[in-house]
Amino acid sequence: MTTPVLVAVAWPYASGSRHLGHLAGAYLPSDIFARQQRMIGNEVLMVSGSDVHGTPITVRADEEGLTPQDIVDRYHNEFLDQWDQLGISWDLYTTTGTSNHSEVTQEMFLAQLERGHIDRRTSKQLYDVEVNRFLPDRYVEGTCPHCGSNEARGDQCDNCGKTYDATELINPRSKMSPSSPVLRETEHFYFRYSDFNDSLESFLNSKEGWRNHVINFALGWLRDEGLIDRAITRDLDWGVELPVEDLGEGKRIYVWYDAVIGYLSASKEWAERQGTPDKWKHWWHNDQSRHVYFIGKDNIPFHALFWPAQLMAVGEQVAGKELHLPDDIPANQYVTFKGGKASASRGVGMTIEEGLQHFQADALRYALASNFPEQADTEISYEEIVRRINEELVANWGNLVNRVLSMTHKTCGGVVAEPGELTKDDTALLAFIDRSLEESAELFEIVELRAALRKGMEAAQAANRYLNATEPWKLAKTDLDRAQTILYVALSAINGIRVMLSPFLPFTSEKLNDLLGHPEEWSRVPLTAGLPIPKPTPLFNKIEA
Ligand code: MF3
Ligand code: ZN
Repeated sequence: MTTPVLVAVAWPYASGSRHLGHLAGAYLPSDIFARQQRMIGNEVLMVSGSDVHGTPITVRADEEGLTPQDIVDRYHNEFLDQWDQLGISWDLYTTTGTSNHSEVTQEMFLAQLERGHIDRRTSKQLYDVEVNRFLPDRYVEGTCPHCGSNEARGDQCDNCGKTYDATELINPRSKMSPSSPVLRETEHFYFRYSDFNDSLESFLNSKEGWRNHVINFALGWLRDEGLIDRAITRDLDWGVELPVEDLGEGKRIYVWYDAVIGYLSASKEWAERQGTPDKWKHWWHNDQSRHVYFIGKDNIPFHALFWPAQLMAVGEQVAGKELHLPDDIPANQYVTFKGGKASASRGVGMTIEEGLQHFQADALRYALASNFPEQADTEISYEEIVRRINEELVANWGNLVNRVLSMTHKTCGGVVAEPGELTKDDTALLAFIDRSLEESAELFEIVELRAALRKGMEAAQAANRYLNATEPWKLAKTDLDRAQTILYVALSAINGIRVMLSPFLPFTSEKLNDLLGHPEEWSRVPLTAGLPIPKPTPLFNKIEA
């Protein structure tokens, strides 16, 4: 039976170049998962887009003396180009700047307002008297009220991951001037997150198999303090406009309220573009669908707590049926690049652009996937990437493919040979490959992608060991029939292993598909004797240090 799977991927801020840490955190794992889910026959809808609102964008525009739209256009185009080069297989990559996104956001806002989960409150916000403006989110920094870190931003602390109001910062500092921010009254809409503490707790408690660090963070937050109501509008002139006029000019919807709605608005945009405008319901109004969110750990509160609350709060008011809640949020921890967290805003690490200048896309994908920070932070460096490529990808998989295809081409007259009777060792190798395929499929189900990759690489190692033990290159001179059988077995092994590796290595797998045919399913399909095997070219290049 096929399952509709929504692969929902964190929306990168179009405020600066993305780093390898972001790539390993969300975009690459989601692509690998989506590709595998398509191969096993599930109906995948993979959506994301550029997050074009919020103070990350306006701060950057202020710094460069450009408009926010200039900044957005620059980075959105950069991202599009990089997704292409990396082979990220979106069904739709859009932006939160579309009129469709505004409409869907406003529709949700109105539904929640009507149902009483949004209300209006007057509160004090930080204000910079020197430049005469309020200081939302990233316009202010200070000491985290939860963990005491000095580098806390106005809306979230990088150190402990907690979110809060800028007014809760200890010793706030304006980023606009050296003057000390003062408190001034302003009116905003608040989302009553506290209405959902109980429902969120039972929602989270009903989840099985979530990564420990994700479920612990979310449940811990609910148990320790619970969610409190938060302003979801800001004193800014950049963002989704409010669908009501109550607050007057100069207020916009808070970026984190609108960005998560992108998962739904993008699904609708995709359906509209397909010419099947109602098709989004197949994922969102369907108890049988599966929604998997790919994010970095700093995004956990927004996806495990706030977004489910926003979805619960519309009830059946949007399109007459409840919206599907997240099924899994396999958030990744951080990749530290030579010591410092790969963070665009703090300017550490290697950018995606630099990564692509140095490495072939599949090779970069391999090196990152083998180091995915699924359970704990991992470290990566240029040297480590090179080592992974040369000593693992090239030496193991690349070498296996190259030698078996070359020998088949030479020894079997350029076609897949007709095998003789298989020995115990022959069938043992093929059985191992088939078992690895099954085990890797199970690992994909629980989004353990690193381990799934390892299954493929262990299978390649087994095939290399088999060749080293049987030495078909020697046998070719004394027992051609047996040599051809061995090459048939080795090629059959490759035919299974390439299926396991293809979600990770889409470009080079496509080359193999040209030779061996397109795999239709997650299994090793028997090879047809007589299939022509042209002279191969190496799949990967060794990196010269
Ligand atoms: N723009 C945010 C970031 O880069 C992620 C937004 S994810 C979304 O951290 F779902 F909210 F869009
Ligand atoms: Zn903190």
